[in-house]
Amino acid sequence: MNKKEILDAFWFRHACKEFDKEKKISADDFNYILETARLSPSSFGFEPWHFIVVQRKEMRDKLKNGAWGAELKLDTASHFVVALSMKSVRTKYDSPYLEKFMKEVQQLPQEVVEMKSKIYENFQKKDFNLNDDASLFTWATKQTYIALGNMLTASALIGIDSCPIEGFNPEATNKILKEEMGVDTDVYGIAYMAAFGYRKQEPHDKTRRSLEEITTWL
Ligand SMILES: Cc1cc2nc3c(=O)[nH]c(=O)nc-3n(C[C@H](O)[C@H](O)[C@H](O)COP(=O)(O)O)c2cc1C
Repeated sequence: MNKKEILDAFWFRHACKEFDKEKKISADDFNYILETARLSPSSFGFEPWHFIVVQRKEMRDKLKNGAWGAELKLDTASHFVVALSMKSVRTKYDSPYLEKFMKEVQQLPQEVVEMKSKIYENFQKKDFNLNDDASLFTWATKQTYIALGNMLTASALIGIDSCPIEGFNPEATNKILKEEMGVDTDVYGIAYMAAFGYRKQEPHDKTRRSLEEITTWL
């Protein structure tokens, strides 16, 4: 794939408002999209995310409550993702979950786990001031948004449309996730939603500031 083809995909991608209900993304294509989320980078490599693919109509209808920016997408998207980020119980420097994660997923030997934990503790306390639950959660959502960018681009590269969605009330949506979808909201909170499918109509022309305006070279 050359640079022009890649940039063409960036021009092709737009926030799709309504999808063609009749067109479904194949299982293979959607696995590829999820795979680009899985392979996304995250701070310290801790992957503080989980993705729920909401396909059943009754489940999608539940999500409409408080999700003003998602309604038409919930009705028409081929695939609909709710992206969750981990809370402090998992992401604080001394969490048992992270110790297990470093050993089992990252396959680090005990002495490296201890060293990495110390560096992570300093990072949280002194560098990024991640000293309360809210800032730790926001930090985890930042990582989760990297996966969003990758999923949107990966989709566009194979001609699939998408829409990132923040048009919802997090408190209301977390309540639905907890009470009606079995999400443990002590561990996870919603970061964003994202819809995938095929466009119903052509979008408006894309507008962006110039490269000169958004860059400074020193
Ligand atoms: C984090 C995020 C949240 C967004 N939330 C919504 C949303 O709830 N509903 C919607 O229709 N578009 C949403 N958008 C789409 C933006 O409005 C859109 O990306 C922007 O206007 C630029 O247009 P383009 O993506 O078509 O180039 C969101 C975009 C981002 C990145």
